[in-house]
Amino acid sequence: MPYRTIIEPFRIKSVEPLRFNTREQRQAALEAVGYNLFGLHADDVLIDLLTDSGTGAMSSEQWAAIMRGDESYAGARSFDRFEAVVAELTGLEHVIPTHQGRAAERILFGEIVQQGDIVPNNTHFDTTRANVEFQGAEARDLICPEGRDLQVEAPFKGNMDVEALEQTLAADADRVPLVMVTITNNSGGGQPVSLDNLRQVRELCDRYGRPLFLDACRFAENAWFVKEREDGEADRTPRDIAKEAFRLADGCTISLKKDGLANIGGVLAVNDPELAARCRDNLILTEGFPTYGGLAGRDLDALAVGLQEVTDPDYLRYRVRTAAYLAERAWAAGVPTVRPPGGHAVYLDAAALLPHIPPHQFPAQALACELYVEGGVRGVEIGTLMFGHPGGDGQPETTAPNELVRLALPRRTYTQSHIDYVGEVIEAVAARARQLTGYVIVEQPRWLRHFTARLAPVG
Ligand code: F0G
Repeated sequence: MPYRTIIEPFRIKSVEPLRFNTREQRQAALEAVGYNLFGLHADDVLIDLLTDSGTGAMSSEQWAAIMRGDESYAGARSFDRFEAVVAELTGLEHVIPTHQGRAAERILFGEIVQQGDIVPNNTHFDTTRANVEFQGAEARDLICPEGRDLQVEAPFKGNMDVEALEQTLAADADRVPLVMVTITNNSGGGQPVSLDNLRQVRELCDRYGRPLFLDACRFAENAWFVKEREDGEADRTPRDIAKEAFRLADGCTISLKKDGLANIGGVLAVNDPELAARCRDNLILTEGFPTYGGLAGRDLDALAVGLQEVTDPDYLRYRVRTAAYLAERAWAAGVPTVRPPGGHAVYLDAAALLPHIPPHQFPAQALACELYVEGGVRGVEIGTLMFGHPGGDGQPETTAPNELVRLALPRRTYTQSHIDYVGEVIEAVAARARQLTGYVIVEQPRWLRHFTARLAPVG
């Protein structure tokens, strides 16, 4: 097409009104919830970029599929349709539905991870790490060196450090029950993993006789980046690339709330029949019968359609371009981000924008709060509020390596004018960055404090 503008590859059939409020109302709402954006009521948020998980819009075909949902407790037709699509995509033999990604993680790790084990991953997502650690094992992040540098431009900053993986396997293979690779690498900025890297990891897993699992929440976005960036892959379809990635693995866990294009769902798929049998027993205990696994039949049908739609090149081109466009708006406003932009989110670098706010005063939380007060835009802090720990005895906080605000993009939900608006809000906040002040925590729980802690502005 001779035009530069990449349009949303859909038109809108059902709309949900946004609620506008005033700066004063937002200020009051934020104060009332102790400056924690998780505490806000959705009605008080104008553009919600808290997460891309379960927040997307379904297509007309998915809504039609919902009406075909078979709610039989056992042997539902919906399961057959779901299983067929997952099997075609992944090539994996045993398909076990779960209500969301972390349930698949819990069941898998509960069966194969033991106290004292090591689970290597490029970077564990929070719930994945927590589920590994819950088994008494070590969740070891082995991201490639360029993935640790926020600013360096490299095509596959989500890659596993294969040398470090080899060292772990050479030293401790008997303590490694599985190797995991997260595509795309959410905690590392939504950065992709190359097919070449996956092949090298596969080769190491073969050499040491260890199974390889993908945490494949954003497999379609990863496939698009491979098509765009990896030598020799440009002419393949994203689906073909995704299929190859899955076929390099022995199993996968997927939160289908992302590239399943539905609002709920997850799956655990494995080749090993004996492991599958044990996982199904565990599933029955906590999720449900193996033909629904904590989901309604209609959810399975929506997912069966979503998992086919998500590899559409027109959709993926628009999807990845949206994140890049928002990042460009941030750069134009003088706000650095993790580079290059990931597929599902833009990560603003609050440490770079707010050098006058020290990490123990939560600069990324200050930026997230200000984006909300300024324009009703909700993102999420990924910094010392999330990953730091209270010092105790008058000691300062332990701080996180980076101070980021993630603006995650729900799928097919906001239009370009919404993104332009977010860009303007970023500009307005950046223009008075020097005036922003830090925060102190006034109340915090023992674990996962970022969800419920209450804060107050410094001074
Ligand atoms: N793995 C990755 C890479 C994820 O990003 C998530 C969720 C999960 C596993 C867990 O899946 O939520 O369905 O249980 N990420 C969401 C986010 C919550 O906002 O990034 P779940």
